[in-house]
Formats: sequence, structure tokens, C-alpha cells
Amino acid sequence: MRARRRVVTLRETRPAAPRRPTIARRTASAPASGVERVPIAGPPVIRADTPVDLSIELGRGLVLPNPVLVASGTFGYGVEYGEVVEVERLGGICCKGTTLRPRIGNVTPRVTETPGGMLNSIGLQNPGVDAVVDRYTATWAGWRVPVIVNVAGESVSDYVEVVSRLDGVPGVAGIELNISCPNVGKGGMQFAIDADAAGSVTAAVRRMTDLPLLVKLSPNVADVRPIARAIADAGADALTAVNTLSGIAVAPSRTRPLLGNVYGGVSGPAIKPIALRVVYEVAQVVDIPIVGIGGVTELADVLDFLAVGAVAVQVGTAIFADPTLPVRLVDELTGACRARGLDSHRPLIGTALPRRTGASSAKGAEYRP
Ligand SMILES: Cc1cc2nc3c(=O)[nH]c(=O)nc-3n(C[C@H](O)[C@H](O)[C@H](O)COP(=O)(O)O)c2cc1C
Repeated sequence: MRARRRVVTLRETRPAAPRRPTIARRTASAPASGVERVPIAGPPVIRADTPVDLSIELGRGLVLPNPVLVASGTFGYGVEYGEVVEVERLGGICCKGTTLRPRIGNVTPRVTETPGGMLNSIGLQNPGVDAVVDRYTATWAGWRVPVIVNVAGESVSDYVEVVSRLDGVPGVAGIELNISCPNVGKGGMQFAIDADAAGSVTAAVRRMTDLPLLVKLSPNVADVRPIARAIADAGADALTAVNTLSGIAVAPSRTRPLLGNVYGGVSGPAIKPIALRVVYEVAQVVDIPIVGIGGVTELADVLDFLAVGAVAVQVGTAIFADPTLPVRLVDELTGACRARGLDSHRPLIGTALPRRTGASSAKGAEYRP
């Protein structure tokens, strides 16, 4: 603690911080009044006004200004929050799930609180891809913040058709495939729980567009790694992990499930350990960037996701309690980098992963109930 205080004082007299931090410290050979500069691996040494580069590339030229995005379904189309949030300071916006035709969503009730989170079964209510293009893309095109359109469908041709209508439209910076939808061709099984189906839909969309392509993993599988690999092999530029966990709630009468749709998706802080585990496992088997999602409510969560290999995070459920949180996290991450003497958040990525390249996540040793 003493060393930390002394260093900050000395560095504050420097005109600018170098990219590679050095530390001014006393050494045994230096006189008590003298200092020498030696490279360091550790303590914080960056001036409070030094710019920190939080930008990160997700592939095909999609460069986020910072690694804090808002998650699909929790921030509308971005335009709704203009009065309360500095939208353009976000790292990216994933808009509400978009389908080929308009959807009115599931029957009510559609949401309920759960311990440490919520359960939702909105059912992809949205006006359909053509209306999304008409209503929002012109506004998005004028924003600095990249807008990634979350796409859902019930068949491969659904996904391809939606993406074809988004391809080349100014304001659409990328596509995020929500593959946690029933695959009609496979009798209602989700694309996200089957490696072949996940790979097929990714490959089909990849053939259709050169837009940056993210594919969103589901945590509702026994082993996510083969699915992540299939998606990466099929040409995705990045993965997002995770979508909600399947759950139900019981009506107060205890005579039926609470949600009109019976099943809903659990989100919020309660799912963070699961999301971290998925990112940790996937980061060890693919080379493409991973965006972590699940229960981010504070800076420590962002740092945790980075540590297990995510290059960026999305904030979802927490936005309902505080829409200004994501922008605040950007500022806090900047501060956390400076406090560690870093001029970028990249050194914080993957620090909790096993060191051996190619090592699996302790296969056989990880917790498997
Ligand atoms: C109300 C609500 C609606 C959502 N809608 C979508 C959606 O349309 N598409 C999608 O891929 N994910 C959707 N999600 C999942 C979130 O994007 C996110 O993956 C999940 O909530 C976990 O993050 P969190 O714990 O920070 O909320 C939705 C989540 C909530 C709570």
C-alpha cells in the first residue's frame, strides 16, 4: 500500500504516461534521495487524465469503442432511452430480437421476479424486420455507437431471409443470431442445443452476408464446447454467451405455472456463475472473440467476465433497475485500467484462464452435478 502511494506521487510529475508503464522506485544502489526507472509488471502508475483505449474488434472491421454493450431485449431499439442515457457512449447496442414477420409475443403474464433476477417469456414481440429497417436504421446510421441487430427465426431460411433484408442497410453494424428458438425443421428443438443445427444456421447466414456475425450461445446444454466450435468453424466472427436459462415459476394458487407460456428465461445476477463457466469453457476451445453476458450489475462483474476470456460484456436485466448503469461501467472500467497502470483493458482479458495453451477447462475436473 505504501509503495502504491509513493509511485502515484512520483508519476504525477511526469508530463505523459508511456504506453509501457515504468515505475520510479528507490533501489539499494540508489541514494536515498535518488530514483531510477525500471520496468514493472505490477503496480498502478497511470495519470488520471491519460487516455485509456477500451476499443475492441469483434471481427470484419466491427470495432466497438468500448467493451460494454446492452443486451438484446433489454434496451429496445436504443431510441427509447435517448432522454435518460448517453446512448452514444455505449460500446454497442444489441436490439430486440427481430423476426421475418411481426410477432405479438406470448400470452401474459410474461415476466416475474425471481431471487437474484427475473423470469421472462416475452416471446420475441417485435414489428418484423421490414418495420425495424424502416423505423430505426436511419437513426442508427447517424450514431457513433454500433447497432447489432439480434435476429431470430424458426428455420434456416427464416434466418437467412431476415439477414438478407438487413444486409447492406446503413446503420446495421452487425448481426447477432439468437439461435435459442425452436427449429421447425428439427421438430421444435432449439438450434442452440445441437452442434450440427447451430453450425448449419451459422454457415447459411455466413454465406448470405459479409456483415460481422455474432452467434449467441444458450446455457441450456450439457456441454457447450462442441456447439461453440461448430459455430466458429461455420464462419461466425464472434460468440455471445449466454442467453437466458430455461425456468418456470408457480402461480400463487399453486394450481398451474405462473407464466402464460409456462416456460421462461431466467436472467440477472443469479445466472452469472453459469455464464462465467460457459465463457471460461468456450474461451479455451475457440479463437474468435467472446462477449460475456449474464448478471452484470457492477464493475466487478465486468472484470470477472474479462478474466475468464470475454473481450466485452453485455448488460441486460440490470438495465431495468438502472438504465444508466452501462455508461457508468464504461467510466468505471476506464478508472480500473488507470488504477492498474494500464492504457487498455486488453491485459485484463483471460487472466483467469489456464496458462497452458490448448488446455481444456480441467475436463473431468469441472463441476458437473
Ligand atoms: C425481458 C428480456 C427480453 C430478452 N429478449 C431477448 C431477445 O429478444 N433476444 C436475445 O437474444 N436475448 C434476449 N434476452 C436475453 C438477454 O439478452 C441476455 O442474454 C440475458 O438476459 C442474460 O443477461 P442478463 O442476466 O444481464 O439479463 C432477453 C432478456 C430479457 C430479460
